[in-house]
Amino acid sequence: MIEKIFQLTGRLVQIVIQNPSDLQHVIGTANWAAGEIFDPVADTRTFKHVNVLDICEGTQRWTLQSFPSVGASVSPMECAALAALAHLVNAKAIFEFGTYKGVSTTQLALNVAEGGMVYTLDLPEDHPAYTLPIPKPEERAIAAEGGKGILIPRDLLNKVTFLSADSATFDEAPYLESMDLVFVDAAHSYEYVKNDSEKGWKMLRPGGVIAWHDCVASHRDVVKYLKECGHDIKLVGGTALAYSIKP
Ligand SMILES: C[S@@+](CC[C@H](N)C(=O)[O-])C[C@H]1O[C@@H](n2cnc3c(N)ncnc32)[C@H](O)[C@@H]1O
Repeated sequence: MIEKIFQLTGRLVQIVIQNPSDLQHVIGTANWAAGEIFDPVADTRTFKHVNVLDICEGTQRWTLQSFPSVGASVSPMECAALAALAHLVNAKAIFEFGTYKGVSTTQLALNVAEGGMVYTLDLPEDHPAYTLPIPKPEERAIAAEGGKGILIPRDLLNKVTFLSADSATFDEAPYLESMDLVFVDAAHSYEYVKNDSEKGWKMLRPGGVIAWHDCVASHRDVVKYLKECGHDIKLVGGTALAYSIKP
């Protein structure tokens, strides 16, 4: 450890001498890592980490669709993880909290089993009111945006059922234990993550899989809930995607 600290100090001094503006990159990376560790509630290192290729054994044919960068959506590696999870449970019925433009919905629709359906829930566009707190202004701005599901290719629309409601008032009763895969990615406040996860868990069949986006220090409430919920949580390496299999 001491040796590494000396090495780092030497390199930092060298960077300051050569080109001090390069420090920005080093400090940015270090700050991000320190943020992960600084707050024990947000520290994701305690979760079991799984390689995306180890989610399901053998080889599968995943189908992914790329999009020009869409903020607040799953990354390409997370798209692959969602595809792997769909294949892991041979998902025929999938429920998603948080459609937004449809990037993750598309990956789910591409990998749902033959004859299957993706149910995706978002706030009504003409009345995007919600009942539980959403403290982050950037999340409230996304919630108020129109064009939900707009990027989903037309040829996949027969595999997608759009549901329009505040997840806090959404009634999960008609879907109990009917879902093979649930994906939680709507509002990220503690109250909403708890609400959506508990409803999602009830909708999941035994042996089904529930996944959460944004299991990362910058979404402290997501990490906090996942640590408290008591499920066996795994985090997919190189992503902010966590999942758990219902016993
Ligand atoms: C982070 S985006 C989802 C991104 C999407 N899963 C993807 O990867 O492409 C969150 C979405 O959740 C929706 N949302 C926020 N609060 C909600 C609520 N209370 N009920 C239903 N949907 C909500 C927002 O309108 C927004 O479209």
